[in-house]
Amino acid sequence: MIIDLQIRAAAAADREAIRHVHLRAFADSENQRVAQLALDLWDSQNQTGAHAWVAEAHGQVIGHVAFSPVTAPSLGPAHILAPLGVLPEHHGQGVGVALVRHGLNAVEGALVLVYGDPAYYGRFGFRAEDAVWCMPPYELEHPMGWQARWPIGLAQPAAPVTIRCVPALDDSVLW
Ligand SMILES: CC(C)(COP(=O)(O)OP(=O)(O)OC[C@H]1O[C@@H](n2cnc3c(N)ncnc32)[C@H](O)[C@@H]1OP(=O)(O)O)[C@@H](O)C(=O)NCCC(=O)NCCS
Repeated sequence: MIIDLQIRAAAAADREAIRHVHLRAFADSENQRVAQLALDLWDSQNQTGAHAWVAEAHGQVIGHVAFSPVTAPSLGPAHILAPLGVLPEHHGQGVGVALVRHGLNAVEGALVLVYGDPAYYGRFGFRAEDAVWCMPPYELEHPMGWQARWPIGLAQPAAPVTIRCVPALDDSVLW
């Protein structure tokens, strides 16, 4: 556990630190792509309404998460969580959980989608079976990683819909 962990909205001065987090957090096979995604989401946030939060400890950015809006016919407010990364030396200290919880609170009342490991995201209420109503825009390499967290009171569409993401995520190599 980190004593002085703070989750806050990312600021312009955090841009390079966000890139650094993802370059270090992800494997070499995908880290450049994920870091670029994080920056593209950050740079376009004024147009898209995407959110970015960082985890800071001892004056250093050690984690980052982004939530960006997704749309579909007859779908209420919805976001996708991506990417999430924590510096390897701080793994297992609750940083990822704190970032995800912070983001979920900030978009409370909205549907949240994620493409990731169910063993990690299940703890937040994400379920693969709840994601069948919102089909991803591209064919997935790991279909079981596609999960949704429906808020109480938000109706599911009458039939499955295909979501549209912000331009930064609208790239088949990311799926
Ligand atoms: C996944 C990641 C964000 C988790 O952050 P973290 O700060 O290490 O996680 P936390 O300390 O908040 O949570 C730790 C818990 O998550 C579990 N966990 C961590 N990574 C996991 C994974 N890939 N799959 C399943 N469980 C995982 C730990 O076992 C631990 O479980 P416990 O609470 O039952 O003991 C971090 O490991 C990371 O940056 N990984 C590389 C990038 C990545 O895979 N991002 C997610 C893409 S979907």
